[in-house]
Amino acid sequence: MFSEKVQNARVGYTFDDFLLTPNGSYVEPKNVDTTVKINDDISLNIPILSAAMDTVTESQLAIALAQEGGIGVIHRNKTLEQEVEEVKKVKNADDITISDVITINPDSSVSEVQKVMDDMSISGLPVVEGEDIIGIISRRDVKPIIKSGQDKLVKDIMTSDVVTIDESTSAEEALDIAYENKVERLPVLSDNKLVGIVTIRDILNHKKHANAARDKDGRLLVAAATGPFDLERAIALDKAGADIISIDCAHAHNMDVVKFIKTIKENISGDLCVGNIATSEAAEDIIAQEADCLKVGIGPGSMCTTRIVAGVGVPQMTAISDVADVARENCIPVIADGGIRYSGDIAKAIGAGADLVMLGNALAGTYESPGEIVVMNGKKYKTYRGMGSMGAMTGGFGGGADRYFQEIQGPMKHTKLIPEGVEGAVPYKGSVSEVVFQMVGGLRASMGYCGAKDIDSMKEVARFTRITQSGIKESHPHDLLITNESPNYPTLE
Ligand code: XMP
Repeated sequence: MFSEKVQNARVGYTFDDFLLTPNGSYVEPKNVDTTVKINDDISLNIPILSAAMDTVTESQLAIALAQEGGIGVIHRNKTLEQEVEEVKKVKNADDITISDVITINPDSSVSEVQKVMDDMSISGLPVVEGEDIIGIISRRDVKPIIKSGQDKLVKDIMTSDVVTIDESTSAEEALDIAYENKVERLPVLSDNKLVGIVTIRDILNHKKHANAARDKDGRLLVAAATGPFDLERAIALDKAGADIISIDCAHAHNMDVVKFIKTIKENISGDLCVGNIATSEAAEDIIAQEADCLKVGIGPGSMCTTRIVAGVGVPQMTAISDVADVARENCIPVIADGGIRYSGDIAKAIGAGADLVMLGNALAGTYESPGEIVVMNGKKYKTYRGMGSMGAMTGGFGGGADRYFQEIQGPMKHTKLIPEGVEGAVPYKGSVSEVVFQMVGGLRASMGYCGAKDIDSMKEVARFTRITQSGIKESHPHDLLITNESPNYPTLE
């Protein structure tokens, strides 16, 4: 009966419909563990991914987020080759061993050395004869010679007593060796052959990010998006070193998409994340195809219009908990994607069963997101647009269009598309590190209130109170004029 269908419809809830209820707690925010294990090889130190959107995640943001302990998902609105390059940039980002070593010949002149140093912006070069390293020369050796107007040969002024390290030397050991020998750079040898060089500066930089999310070889973690039927891209991204391949589709419960999951899974070595979905039935069908991770969210995003244009979606707390019930039985992590505005929403998403959250809006507008800062009415902004917006579907590589099962055709391509997102601007937010600090700080506070020492216990101990419109009103600052904007409570004017 139609009337029953309408009258018996479930109520769907979202973040603002609930508050987490405080529990008796021995947990202090500074002591909580925010680690999330994705599989035996991959763990994140914070439960945050960045959205695969062309105004959010390219290598620069993915590097910054991985250095904070999370993982970026490189967007696919670019050619396969360009996306592969972005993945490689992240994987090589803070590799302390430079493997494309530039060397110099002992019979080169000092002025030649200076030119190489200037052209390549480096300040020290190993001196090699054939395959043997016979010395090292630095800007400090070169400068006085050039200043005095002479031009000597490299072999006359190089340091012949070269301190080297073996390939297996750890970053800590390398640092000790460099300090003991008062050198700034250490050539790396394998079977007595030069295979790389490490500098103190790079080691210290590496150590600065103690909480970074790294693979077993110490490289930063990165994920990359592929189209639901783009096997070639999935294979190329996997080969390039992406730790997670993310099937990026507006409706992953389209049965053709579901059927193709296994084909992609069988051809990659990394984990396969599949999204987006919003129901337990979708979770069951996708888990049956051996997906490693599920991404939840149909229409909660800040720039999404799917729920308006198509009238389809499930409010996010209901969607997360429905999918999480199925995922838990299968030990599969769940990503809550879209609609996260405040750190409290992250805590609520985890309380409802998510292991991780994906942020679009919250990370768009950071220094590291793609695009320039624009100033409007004296305030700084960066652009942020839906991947189903007209701009994203017609610009870039068209990766926005097939996410929504649409094709760009003919000269009047604009009129042939049905957008499911809008284009806009978000306030400039400073660095990814500042945003993450506030977001994770708020999550820690929440876990303290709830008595959860880690993410798994947060999923278990979190209790909710259903609130009303008056409760929402009471929750936000009220009855005052905010005179000093708080970094974790932005007001958009
Ligand atoms: P937030 O709220 O963090 O959401 O800005 C980011 C997520 O929104 C999804 N997304 C879209 N959804 N139309 C949609 O309906 C779009 O144009 C669109 N673009 C992105 C996506 O899942 C992202 O992670």
